[in-house]
Amino acid sequence: MVHLSRRTVLLAGVAWAVTELGPNNVHAQNSTRPSLPIPAELRADAGGTIRLDARPGSMRFVGDRETATYGINGPYLGPAVRVRRREKVVAQVSNNVPETITMHWHGLIIPGAADGGPHQVIPPGKQWQTELAVDQPAATLWFHPHSYPATAQEVIRGLAGLLIIDDEESGRLPLPSRWGVDDIPLIIQDRRFTPDGQFFDRMNYIAVTNGYVGDTALVNGARYPQTRTTRGWIRLRILNGSNARSYTLAASDGRSLYVIASDGGLLATPVELKQLLIHVGERFEALVDGRDGRAFDIVTLPVAQDIMRLPPFDGPLPLVTIRPEGADGTGQLPSSLAVLPALPQQLPPMTQELVMNMFRDQQGMMPLKTAGLMAMVKSGKTDPAVVARVVNLIVNDPVLSQTDQLSANGVNGKSFSIERMDFAAARNQDLRWRISEGSDLMLHPVHIHGCQFRIISRDGKPPEAERAGWKDVAPISAGGVTEILVRFPHPANRVAPYMAHCHILEHEDSGMMTQFTV
Ligand code: C2O
Ligand code: CU
Ligand code: CU
Repeated sequence: MVHLSRRTVLLAGVAWAVTELGPNNVHAQNSTRPSLPIPAELRADAGGTIRLDARPGSMRFVGDRETATYGINGPYLGPAVRVRRREKVVAQVSNNVPETITMHWHGLIIPGAADGGPHQVIPPGKQWQTELAVDQPAATLWFHPHSYPATAQEVIRGLAGLLIIDDEESGRLPLPSRWGVDDIPLIIQDRRFTPDGQFFDRMNYIAVTNGYVGDTALVNGARYPQTRTTRGWIRLRILNGSNARSYTLAASDGRSLYVIASDGGLLATPVELKQLLIHVGERFEALVDGRDGRAFDIVTLPVAQDIMRLPPFDGPLPLVTIRPEGADGTGQLPSSLAVLPALPQQLPPMTQELVMNMFRDQQGMMPLKTAGLMAMVKSGKTDPAVVARVVNLIVNDPVLSQTDQLSANGVNGKSFSIERMDFAAARNQDLRWRISEGSDLMLHPVHIHGCQFRIISRDGKPPEAERAGWKDVAPISAGGVTEILVRFPHPANRVAPYMAHCHILEHEDSGMMTQFTV
């Protein structure tokens, strides 16, 4: 039996058509719409090496304007690196972009020295090589730079890719697993462009408070692409690779999403949802039933945060069209997936508290209020004059000095300092941490390096079923408190500590990060 989450919300009779166009227009649109780009799989070569080359490129996202990009082994985003559990590979990262980067393996449980955090810088023209000894269950992870304080800009430009771990247990399940055929990666991002077609990336008070607000949704680097799959069960490997935006994903015709995996791997049983909320840095794998062969869209519905409801995110926005029109598929939805250890009856004592702080939220929020954003969202009607005022603030509010940027946010009362070790965590022990948020009204998806953890409770309640498995991102909302059970099997020393931070990249780059040793 498929577990029906209590959060399952029926979208009674709401069918946002694949397109609201007549059959002729659908046909016309088909030929002009981009195909969903499928990142190439990249396995270690015969010598056990995985080569990643960060380089500049260019792409056409808007009309025929060339946008300057960064990519890994290509012009934008990167390959899907595939490793097997218990495999030891060498990752060799070449930096051919004109700025210092790092390469962090988000979700991988490895020592601090291999983690690719802000201390392991790769200057332009240089290479960084590290061993990755993979020993954790099958999961969809990802990699991206972690340069302090430029992660946001480097990710906006295109540096990010998937990192997929395979293992025997998951290989025995009849899940759809033919890459790009019935196993479809979806990297969802939002971007905004300057009038000359370049990526907008201004760090002002609006950005360090609210995070990046794009007006264009991209899936694997394409605008509203379409993809043909087998006629059968389809697996979507979803990464929210945006800087700040959360998405509420749904199928346009109301069909269910069966969530089978969270950040760190398979859930115990599938969780059937009509709407799937995914925050930045999070991954979910979901199966959808395409046995009827009928096309549908994955859409995103408006989310809670006011500024993230600016058009085109003020109504259901189609992200990608899935056409299950190919040969019959063979994948299935198993009724049970993996054995998840039960949380211990006796929880360890609380050893660490992390409080997310915003020191300048007034500077970032007040102008939006004055511009009428909150009132507009409350009224439920989009007002072009308000939208224009808010967009003007996003785009034109002055860039912060580096000192102002770096002191805008913090953890436990202090903005990040790369020189200062903030705390030490015990190695190889179950630890209970408490993550919370002050009085600001933001949601912070908090991410911790060097581990996969379990959410014990969120605001005193058990986590949603789709967040009850292995996680490396815990969403904390307005005044909320989340407790997690975490264990660090590997060391991280003062030279290569682990990070814990809000994964809204503009928060991370403005002080909402802390570092610790194990
Ligand atoms: Cu995905 Cu510390 O990062
Ligand atoms: Cu990480
Ligand atoms: Cu945050």
